[in-house]
Amino acid sequence: MSTLDISENLDELERITHSGFVDQFASQPTHRVASPGRLNVIGEHVDYNDGIVLPAAIERWIFGVFAPSAGNQVVVYDAKYTESITIDLAEELKPQKGEWANYIKGVFAQFQKQGIQIPAFNACIYSNVPTGGGLSSSAALEALFATIVETLLESPMDKMEKALLCQKAEHEFAGVPCGIMDQAAVILGEQNHLLKLDCRDLSVETVPFTSEELGLMIIDSKVHHELADGEYGKRRASCEQVRDILGLSSLRDATMDQLDAANIDDDVLYRRGKHVITEIERIEAAIEVLKVDDFVALGELINGSHFSLSHDCEVSCPELDFITDQARKHPGVLGARMMGGGFGGSAILLVRKDQAEAVAAKIDQAYQEAYNLKAAFFLTNPSQGVSVSPLS
Ligand code: GLA
Repeated sequence: MSTLDISENLDELERITHSGFVDQFASQPTHRVASPGRLNVIGEHVDYNDGIVLPAAIERWIFGVFAPSAGNQVVVYDAKYTESITIDLAEELKPQKGEWANYIKGVFAQFQKQGIQIPAFNACIYSNVPTGGGLSSSAALEALFATIVETLLESPMDKMEKALLCQKAEHEFAGVPCGIMDQAAVILGEQNHLLKLDCRDLSVETVPFTSEELGLMIIDSKVHHELADGEYGKRRASCEQVRDILGLSSLRDATMDQLDAANIDDDVLYRRGKHVITEIERIEAAIEVLKVDDFVALGELINGSHFSLSHDCEVSCPELDFITDQARKHPGVLGARMMGGGFGGSAILLVRKDQAEAVAAKIDQAYQEAYNLKAAFFLTNPSQGVSVSPLS
Protein backbone atom coordinates (compact mmCIF):
# COMPACT_ATOMS: atom_id res chain seq x y z
CA MET A 1 0.00 0.00 0.00
CA SER A 2 1.23 3.50 -0.80
CA THR A 3 2.36 5.80 2.00
CA LEU A 4 1.66 8.79 -0.22
CA ASP A 5 -1.91 10.05 0.13
CA ILE A 6 -4.09 10.56 -2.88
CA SER A 7 -6.85 13.01 -2.06
CA GLU A 8 -10.07 14.02 -3.77
CA ASN A 9 -9.58 15.88 -7.04
CA LEU A 10 -11.66 18.91 -8.00
CA ASP A 11 -14.35 16.84 -9.75
CA GLU A 12 -14.78 14.63 -6.71
CA LEU A 13 -14.95 17.64 -4.42
CA GLU A 14 -17.60 19.14 -6.65
CA ARG A 15 -19.66 15.93 -6.55
CA ILE A 16 -19.47 15.76 -2.74
CA THR A 17 -20.42 19.37 -2.15
CA HIS A 18 -23.09 19.40 -4.86
CA SER A 19 -24.90 16.45 -3.35
CA GLY A 20 -24.44 17.89 0.17
CA PHE A 21 -25.97 21.15 -0.99
CA VAL A 22 -28.99 19.50 -2.62
CA ASP A 23 -29.63 17.34 0.48
CA GLN A 24 -29.28 20.23 2.86
CA PHE A 25 -31.02 23.05 1.03
CA ALA A 26 -33.35 21.16 -1.34
CA SER A 27 -32.26 23.40 -4.22
CA GLN A 28 -29.43 23.69 -6.75
CA PRO A 29 -26.21 25.66 -6.21
CA THR A 30 -25.34 28.29 -8.80
CA HIS A 31 -21.53 28.43 -8.47
CA ARG A 32 -18.48 26.44 -7.42
CA VAL A 33 -15.36 27.79 -5.79
CA ALA A 34 -12.05 26.06 -5.09
CA SER A 35 -9.73 27.63 -2.53
CA PRO A 36 -6.33 25.96 -2.08
CA GLY A 37 -3.96 25.67 0.87
CA ARG A 38 -0.37 26.84 0.44
CA LEU A 39 3.21 25.66 0.64
CA ASN A 40 6.32 27.79 0.98
CA VAL A 41 9.60 26.71 -0.57
CA ILE A 42 11.72 29.14 1.43
CA GLY A 43 11.38 32.39 3.40
CA GLU A 44 9.83 31.72 6.80
CA HIS A 45 9.04 34.32 9.46
CA VAL A 46 10.16 37.04 7.09
CA ASP A 47 6.84 38.22 5.60
CA TYR A 48 6.11 40.41 8.63
CA ASN A 49 9.64 41.82 8.30
CA ASP A 50 8.99 43.12 4.77
CA GLY A 51 10.98 40.22 3.32
CA ILE A 52 10.58 38.14 0.17
CA VAL A 53 8.86 34.74 0.27
CA LEU A 54 8.48 31.94 -2.25
CA PRO A 55 5.12 30.26 -1.65
CA ALA A 56 2.63 28.52 -3.95
CA ALA A 57 -0.94 27.30 -3.77
CA ILE A 58 -1.23 23.51 -3.43
CA GLU A 59 -3.43 20.78 -4.87
CA ARG A 60 -5.54 20.55 -1.73
CA TRP A 61 -8.64 22.68 -1.45
CA ILE A 62 -11.52 23.87 0.58
CA PHE A 63 -14.19 23.46 -2.03
CA GLY A 64 -17.59 25.11 -1.94
CA VAL A 65 -20.78 25.34 -3.95
CA PHE A 66 -23.22 28.12 -3.20
CA ALA A 67 -26.35 29.98 -4.26
CA PRO A 68 -27.94 33.26 -3.20
CA SER A 69 -30.86 32.89 -0.82
CA ALA A 70 -33.77 34.97 0.40
CA GLY A 71 -33.72 36.47 3.88
CA ASN A 72 -30.92 37.68 6.04
CA GLN A 73 -28.81 34.65 6.81
CA VAL A 74 -25.75 32.87 5.58
CA VAL A 75 -25.96 29.13 6.13
CA VAL A 76 -22.83 27.04 5.62
CA TYR A 77 -23.05 23.27 5.66
CA ASP A 78 -19.76 21.42 6.12
CA ALA A 79 -20.20 18.10 4.32
CA LYS A 80 -17.12 16.62 5.97
CA TYR A 81 -18.19 17.11 9.55
CA THR A 82 -21.92 17.14 8.69
CA GLU A 83 -22.53 20.31 10.64
CA SER A 84 -24.01 23.69 9.75
CA ILE A 85 -23.39 27.19 10.94
CA THR A 86 -25.78 30.07 10.53
CA ILE A 87 -24.64 33.67 10.49
CA ASP A 88 -27.35 36.23 11.07
CA LEU A 89 -26.52 39.24 8.94
CA ALA A 90 -28.85 41.51 10.92
CA GLU A 91 -26.66 41.15 14.01
CA GLU A 92 -23.27 42.67 14.70
CA LEU A 93 -20.53 40.19 13.80
CA LYS A 94 -18.30 39.27 16.71
CA PRO A 95 -15.64 36.58 17.07
CA GLN A 96 -16.37 33.72 19.49
CA LYS A 97 -13.41 31.88 20.94
CA GLY A 98 -12.42 28.74 19.04
CA GLU A 99 -15.11 28.87 16.34
CA TRP A 100 -14.20 28.19 12.70
CA ALA A 101 -17.02 30.58 11.77
CA ASN A 102 -14.70 33.38 12.97
CA TYR A 103 -12.79 33.24 9.69
CA ILE A 104 -16.01 33.71 7.74
CA LYS A 105 -17.41 36.38 10.05
CA GLY A 106 -14.04 38.15 9.98
CA VAL A 107 -14.20 38.38 6.20
CA PHE A 108 -17.80 39.63 6.25
CA ALA A 109 -16.89 42.26 8.85
CA GLN A 110 -14.18 43.66 6.59
CA PHE A 111 -16.67 44.10 3.74
CA GLN A 112 -19.15 45.69 6.13
CA LYS A 113 -16.49 48.18 7.26
CA GLN A 114 -16.36 49.36 3.67
CA GLY A 115 -20.12 49.91 3.80
CA ILE A 116 -20.82 46.79 1.75
CA GLN A 117 -23.87 44.72 2.62
CA ILE A 118 -23.26 40.96 2.67
CA PRO A 119 -25.83 39.17 0.50
CA ALA A 120 -27.66 36.16 1.99
CA PHE A 121 -26.58 32.78 0.63
CA ASN A 122 -26.35 29.07 1.27
CA ALA A 123 -23.11 27.15 0.83
CA CYS A 124 -21.88 23.61 1.18
CA ILE A 125 -18.14 23.15 1.73
CA TYR A 126 -15.74 20.22 2.02
CA SER A 127 -12.02 20.43 2.75
CA ASN A 128 -9.08 18.18 2.06
CA VAL A 129 -6.55 20.73 3.36
CA PRO A 130 -5.36 19.20 6.64
CA THR A 131 -6.59 21.43 9.49
CA GLY A 132 -3.84 22.54 11.87
CA GLY A 133 -1.30 21.16 9.41
CA GLY A 134 0.38 24.51 8.78
CA LEU A 135 -1.00 24.57 5.23
CA SER A 136 -3.10 27.70 5.75
CA SER A 137 -6.54 26.15 5.81
CA SER A 138 -7.62 29.35 7.56
CA ALA A 139 -6.43 31.55 4.68
CA ALA A 140 -8.16 29.14 2.27
CA LEU A 141 -11.42 29.54 4.20
CA GLU A 142 -11.10 33.33 4.23
CA ALA A 143 -10.35 33.45 0.50
CA LEU A 144 -13.25 31.13 -0.25
CA PHE A 145 -15.78 33.36 1.51
CA ALA A 146 -14.33 36.61 0.19
CA THR A 147 -14.69 35.11 -3.29
CA ILE A 148 -18.31 34.09 -2.68
CA VAL A 149 -19.15 37.63 -1.55
CA GLU A 150 -17.47 39.34 -4.50
CA THR A 151 -19.16 36.89 -6.90
CA LEU A 152 -22.64 37.48 -5.49
CA LEU A 153 -22.04 41.23 -5.53
CA GLU A 154 -20.81 40.94 -9.12
CA SER A 155 -17.94 43.15 -8.16
CA PRO A 156 -14.59 41.37 -8.59
CA MET A 157 -11.81 42.67 -6.36
CA ASP A 158 -8.17 43.24 -7.12
CA LYS A 159 -6.46 40.02 -5.95
CA MET A 160 -4.00 41.68 -3.60
CA GLU A 161 -6.78 43.82 -2.13
CA LYS A 162 -8.66 40.63 -1.44
CA ALA A 163 -5.59 39.07 0.22
CA LEU A 164 -5.21 42.16 2.43
CA LEU A 165 -8.88 42.00 3.39
CA CYS A 166 -8.48 38.34 4.38
CA GLN A 167 -5.31 39.12 6.35
CA LYS A 168 -7.24 41.76 8.32
CA ALA A 169 -9.97 39.21 9.03
CA GLU A 170 -7.31 36.90 10.48
CA HIS A 171 -5.84 39.70 12.62
CA GLU A 172 -9.14 40.91 13.97
CA PHE A 173 -11.29 37.78 14.23
CA ALA A 174 -8.73 35.00 14.75
CA GLY A 175 -6.30 37.13 16.76
CA VAL A 176 -3.22 36.03 14.79
CA PRO A 177 -0.92 38.93 13.78
CA CYS A 178 0.13 37.11 10.58
CA GLY A 179 1.99 38.49 7.58
CA ILE A 180 0.53 38.54 4.07
CA MET A 181 2.13 35.36 2.70
CA ASP A 182 -0.66 32.84 3.26
CA GLN A 183 -3.54 34.91 1.96
CA ALA A 184 -1.51 36.12 -1.04
CA ALA A 185 -0.45 32.56 -1.93
CA VAL A 186 -3.94 31.09 -1.82
CA ILE A 187 -5.37 33.98 -3.85
CA LEU A 188 -2.60 34.77 -6.35
CA GLY A 189 -1.19 31.25 -6.84
CA GLU A 190 -0.53 30.07 -10.40
CA GLN A 191 -0.30 26.56 -11.70
CA ASN A 192 3.27 25.23 -11.95
CA HIS A 193 4.71 28.46 -10.58
CA LEU A 194 6.05 29.69 -7.28
CA LEU A 195 5.24 33.25 -6.34
CA LYS A 196 8.11 35.57 -5.59
CA LEU A 197 6.21 37.85 -3.26
CA ASP A 198 7.88 40.99 -2.02
CA CYS A 199 6.11 41.69 1.26
CA ARG A 200 7.33 45.28 1.32
CA ASP A 201 5.86 46.63 -1.91
CA LEU A 202 3.49 43.64 -2.43
CA SER A 203 4.81 43.05 -5.95
CA VAL A 204 4.54 39.49 -7.25
CA GLU A 205 6.56 37.70 -9.88
CA THR A 206 5.91 34.13 -10.97
CA VAL A 207 8.81 31.70 -10.98
CA PRO A 208 8.28 28.58 -13.13
CA PHE A 209 8.55 25.38 -11.10
CA THR A 210 8.17 22.23 -13.13
CA SER A 211 10.54 19.34 -13.18
CA GLU A 212 10.21 15.82 -14.52
CA GLU A 213 12.53 14.51 -11.83
CA LEU A 214 11.86 16.62 -8.77
CA GLY A 215 8.79 17.21 -6.72
CA LEU A 216 7.61 18.88 -3.53
CA MET A 217 6.50 16.60 -0.74
CA ILE A 218 4.45 17.80 2.20
CA ILE A 219 4.54 15.87 5.47
CA ASP A 220 1.90 16.72 8.03
CA SER A 221 3.47 15.80 11.37
CA LYS A 222 0.00 15.75 12.98
CA VAL A 223 1.31 17.66 15.96
CA HIS A 224 0.32 21.15 16.90
CA HIS A 225 1.87 22.51 20.04
CA GLU A 226 -0.49 24.70 21.94
CA LEU A 227 1.94 27.53 22.59
CA ALA A 228 1.90 28.24 18.86
CA ASP A 229 -0.38 31.25 18.74
CA GLY A 230 1.19 33.35 21.47
CA GLU A 231 4.70 32.42 20.36
CA TYR A 232 4.04 33.67 16.82
CA GLY A 233 3.20 37.11 18.19
CA LYS A 234 6.33 37.00 20.37
CA ARG A 235 8.54 36.31 17.34
CA ARG A 236 7.02 39.28 15.62
CA ALA A 237 7.57 41.51 18.67
CA SER A 238 11.23 40.39 19.02
CA CYS A 239 11.90 41.21 15.39
CA GLU A 240 10.43 44.68 15.90
CA GLN A 241 12.67 45.15 18.92
CA VAL A 242 15.79 44.23 16.93
CA ARG A 243 14.68 46.51 14.12
CA ASP A 244 14.36 49.39 16.59
CA ILE A 245 17.75 48.67 18.16
CA LEU A 246 19.29 48.82 14.69
CA GLY A 247 17.40 52.05 14.00
CA LEU A 248 15.87 50.71 10.79
CA SER A 249 12.37 50.91 9.40
CA SER A 250 12.43 47.17 8.76
CA LEU A 251 14.70 44.15 9.26
CA ARG A 252 14.61 43.62 5.51
CA ASP A 253 17.38 46.22 5.25
CA ALA A 254 19.60 44.80 8.01
CA THR A 255 22.92 43.02 7.44
CA MET A 256 24.79 40.60 9.69
CA ASP A 257 27.55 43.22 10.02
CA GLN A 258 25.04 45.71 11.38
CA LEU A 259 23.59 43.13 13.75
CA ASP A 260 27.05 42.19 15.05
CA ALA A 261 28.07 45.82 15.41
CA ALA A 262 25.00 46.50 17.56
CA ASN A 263 26.44 44.26 20.33
CA ILE A 264 23.02 43.07 21.44
CA ASP A 265 23.62 41.34 24.75
CA ASP A 266 20.32 39.48 24.72
CA ASP A 267 21.21 36.24 22.94
CA VAL A 268 17.59 35.45 22.08
CA LEU A 269 17.05 38.79 20.37
CA TYR A 270 20.34 38.43 18.51
CA ARG A 271 19.30 35.03 17.17
CA ARG A 272 15.85 36.27 16.12
CA GLY A 273 17.52 39.01 14.11
CA LYS A 274 20.06 36.56 12.71
CA HIS A 275 17.33 34.26 11.46
CA VAL A 276 15.58 37.01 9.54
CA ILE A 277 18.76 38.42 8.02
CA THR A 278 20.17 35.04 6.97
CA GLU A 279 16.79 33.76 5.77
CA ILE A 280 16.45 36.77 3.47
CA GLU A 281 19.96 36.03 2.15
CA ARG A 282 18.93 32.41 1.53
CA ILE A 283 15.81 33.48 -0.38
CA GLU A 284 17.82 35.77 -2.59
CA ALA A 285 20.25 32.92 -3.26
CA ALA A 286 17.33 30.54 -3.91
CA ILE A 287 15.89 32.86 -6.54
CA GLU A 288 19.27 32.91 -8.31
CA VAL A 289 19.78 29.13 -8.24
CA LEU A 290 16.23 28.56 -9.50
CA LYS A 291 17.08 30.61 -12.59
CA VAL A 292 19.67 27.98 -13.54
CA ASP A 293 17.73 24.97 -12.24
CA ASP A 294 20.41 24.22 -9.66
CA PHE A 295 18.20 22.10 -7.43
CA VAL A 296 21.09 20.71 -5.40
CA ALA A 297 21.93 24.25 -4.27
CA LEU A 298 18.24 24.93 -3.63
CA GLY A 299 18.09 21.85 -1.41
CA GLU A 300 21.02 23.10 0.64
CA LEU A 301 19.34 26.45 1.12
CA ILE A 302 16.17 24.68 2.25
CA ASN A 303 18.20 22.70 4.80
CA GLY A 304 19.84 25.91 5.98
CA SER A 305 16.44 27.47 6.44
CA HIS A 306 15.41 24.63 8.73
CA PHE A 307 18.50 24.90 10.93
CA SER A 308 17.96 28.61 11.28
CA LEU A 309 14.25 28.18 12.09
CA SER A 310 15.11 25.52 14.63
CA HIS A 311 18.13 27.14 16.34
CA ASP A 312 17.75 30.87 15.84
CA CYS A 313 14.04 31.50 15.38
CA GLU A 314 13.18 28.53 17.64
CA VAL A 315 9.87 27.73 15.99
CA SER A 316 10.48 24.07 15.20
CA CYS A 317 9.69 21.17 17.54
CA PRO A 318 11.25 17.74 18.18
CA GLU A 319 8.84 16.02 15.77
CA LEU A 320 9.65 18.34 12.84
CA ASP A 321 13.37 18.20 13.62
CA PHE A 322 13.11 14.41 13.58
CA ILE A 323 11.15 14.22 10.30
CA THR A 324 13.47 16.58 8.45
CA ASP A 325 16.54 14.87 9.89
CA GLN A 326 15.33 11.46 8.72
CA ALA A 327 14.51 12.96 5.33
CA ARG A 328 18.02 14.34 4.83
CA LYS A 329 19.49 10.89 5.39
CA HIS A 330 17.76 9.63 2.26
CA PRO A 331 19.54 10.01 -1.10
CA GLY A 332 16.20 10.85 -2.73
CA VAL A 333 15.90 14.07 -0.69
CA LEU A 334 17.67 17.25 -1.78
CA GLY A 335 16.39 19.44 1.04
CA ALA A 336 13.98 19.32 3.98
CA ARG A 337 12.63 21.90 6.39
CA MET A 338 9.72 22.76 8.61
CA MET A 339 7.22 25.02 6.91
CA GLY A 340 4.91 27.81 8.02
CA GLY A 341 4.54 29.36 11.44
CA GLY A 342 5.95 26.30 13.24
CA PHE A 343 5.49 24.52 16.61
CA GLY A 344 4.08 21.59 14.65
CA GLY A 345 2.29 21.42 11.34
CA SER A 346 4.08 20.35 8.19
CA ALA A 347 7.51 19.87 6.67
CA ILE A 348 8.37 20.39 3.00
CA LEU A 349 10.86 18.24 1.10
CA LEU A 350 12.47 18.68 -2.28
CA VAL A 351 12.52 15.06 -3.48
CA ARG A 352 13.36 12.93 -6.48
CA LYS A 353 9.94 11.85 -7.69
CA ASP A 354 11.02 8.29 -8.47
CA GLN A 355 12.11 7.88 -4.87
CA ALA A 356 9.23 9.71 -3.23
CA GLU A 357 7.39 6.56 -2.22
CA ALA A 358 10.50 5.06 -0.63
CA VAL A 359 11.27 8.34 1.18
CA ALA A 360 7.75 8.53 2.60
CA ALA A 361 7.76 4.87 3.71
CA LYS A 362 11.10 5.24 5.46
CA ILE A 363 10.16 8.41 7.35
CA ASP A 364 6.73 7.02 8.17
CA GLN A 365 8.19 3.97 9.84
CA ALA A 366 10.88 5.84 11.77
CA TYR A 367 8.37 8.48 12.93
CA GLN A 368 5.92 5.87 14.16
CA GLU A 369 8.67 4.10 16.06
CA ALA A 370 10.00 7.28 17.64
CA TYR A 371 6.76 9.16 18.35
CA ASN A 372 3.98 6.64 17.89
CA LEU A 373 2.38 9.06 15.45
CA LYS A 374 1.17 8.57 11.89
CA ALA A 375 2.19 11.46 9.65
CA ALA A 376 0.45 12.18 6.34
CA PHE A 377 2.52 12.43 3.15
CA PHE A 378 1.63 13.88 -0.23
CA LEU A 379 3.24 15.28 -3.35
CA THR A 380 1.91 18.46 -4.86
CA ASN A 381 2.51 20.72 -7.83
CA PRO A 382 2.05 24.46 -7.43
CA SER A 383 -1.59 25.07 -8.29
CA GLN A 384 -3.93 27.89 -9.22
CA GLY A 385 -5.14 30.26 -6.51
CA VAL A 386 -8.81 30.53 -5.53
CA SER A 387 -11.12 30.26 -8.52
CA VAL A 388 -14.86 30.50 -9.02
CA SER A 389 -17.13 29.53 -11.88
CA PRO A 390 -20.87 29.31 -12.55
CA LEU A 391 -22.46 25.85 -12.59
CA SER A 392 -24.50 25.07 -15.65
C1 GLA B 1 2.20 31.79 9.34
C2 GLA B 1 1.74 33.20 9.02
C3 GLA B 1 2.47 33.78 7.82
C4 GLA B 1 3.99 33.64 7.99
C5 GLA B 1 4.35 32.22 8.40
C6 GLA B 1 5.82 32.08 8.74
O1 GLA B 1 1.85 30.91 8.28
O2 GLA B 1 0.35 33.22 8.75
O3 GLA B 1 2.12 35.13 7.64
O4 GLA B 1 4.49 34.58 8.90
O5 GLA B 1 3.61 31.77 9.52
O6 GLA B 1 6.60 32.34 7.63
